[in-house]
Amino acid sequence: MDPKRALIHYFTGTGNTGHAVQRVADELARAGYAVTQYRVERKGALPAGAFDLHLFAFPVYGFSAPALFLQYVRELPAPPAGTAAAILSVNGATMAGGNVMPGCSGGSMETVARALQGKGYDVFLTAAVSYPANWTQMMNPAGAADQQLIFAQAAAEVAAFAAKLLRHHSGRGGSGRMSSLVAGVVAFVFRLYGRRVLGKLYVADRRCTACGQCVRNCPAGTIRMGGARPVWRGNCQACNRCINLCPTQAIQTSVVRLLVHGPILALAEVVLAVLVVVYGWPLTSGWSPAARAAAAVAAIGVLLVVVSLLQLTLLEGVLGWLERRSWLRPLFEMSFTRRFRRYLAPGFGPLSDG
Ligand SMILES: Cc1cc2nc3c(=O)[nH]c(=O)nc-3n(C[C@H](O)[C@H](O)[C@H](O)COP(=O)(O)O)c2cc1C
Repeated sequence: MDPKRALIHYFTGTGNTGHAVQRVADELARAGYAVTQYRVERKGALPAGAFDLHLFAFPVYGFSAPALFLQYVRELPAPPAGTAAAILSVNGATMAGGNVMPGCSGGSMETVARALQGKGYDVFLTAAVSYPANWTQMMNPAGAADQQLIFAQAAAEVAAFAAKLLRHHSGRGGSGRMSSLVAGVVAFVFRLYGRRVLGKLYVADRRCTACGQCVRNCPAGTIRMGGARPVWRGNCQACNRCINLCPTQAIQTSVVRLLVHGPILALAEVVLAVLVVVYGWPLTSGWSPAARAAAAVAAIGVLLVVVSLLQLTLLEGVLGWLERRSWLRPLFEMSFTRRFRRYLAPGFGPLSDG
């Protein structure tokens, strides 16, 4: 008899999800499955044929599955009705008082499950595991001893998940502690807007050798060489592969960019919102209080959308121009991440060097 076939679809930024998936694949293979792993990255041909079991695994960014992964799931062809599928979200654990604090999936697994069920998959199992947090752009990754503790806990979580998968055990778990409404809003805003802004905070400092490894390894192909330094365009997934993979640790979070895209822009938005309300209020003098309040909220909403669009286009153009002035470059290269460690899961390295 032919062995059962399993297909693992996964995305990984810094290798944690790849690490978890390899362990699950090993367990499936031990149980007699023929396992194919498919790394969702840019465009590539989907493995052909029918599979008895599908696993969808992804890291969580801003309580969401990576935008690229969600798009991939939404574009998958429909399988034979009732095809078995499971979902694994790989979260970021941190340490607090010597204890491993698991991450939070928000509503990411439910969103992926809904997309799969809409295609006819039977999603029988969802679970979350926590690996070391990889958000080097904003926080110093765990040191070696803490990583060991987190990996020990992750190994147990992955083994428990694989055992359930093999027993075809039904279960929904691991969303974390957040209200689904709040988590859903955060995830939506992050996918649409947050991840793109995070990409605009990077700068490559003078240690950059223009080797192009960040360009070649960006899973969304959003980094290009602009002269002798990389430039981050608009489709950043916020996976933090570039900052962690750079061989000379030249990629940093620019403090100037962080201030402009963060507090300075937020302050400008507050001022503009106040002006809109102050000058718009008299124009609605004949309206009911509810209609006036609704109009004010709508006007502020439109204002925020317009400012966000200008932020990612006009403002970004101005910042890019200023950054290219050699006398201003040191200002843009000011960063706190120069002192941070870098994080890649064991065994994870560049996709290609050529
Ligand atoms: C921008 C960003 C946002 C993140 N948001 C979350 C989150 O909402 N919840 C969580 O548990 N972990 C979060 N993490 C941590 C990663 O999900 C975690 O480190 C994961 O194991 C990375 O997997 P990978 O190496 O396969 O990319 C975030 C990481 C980044 C870079």
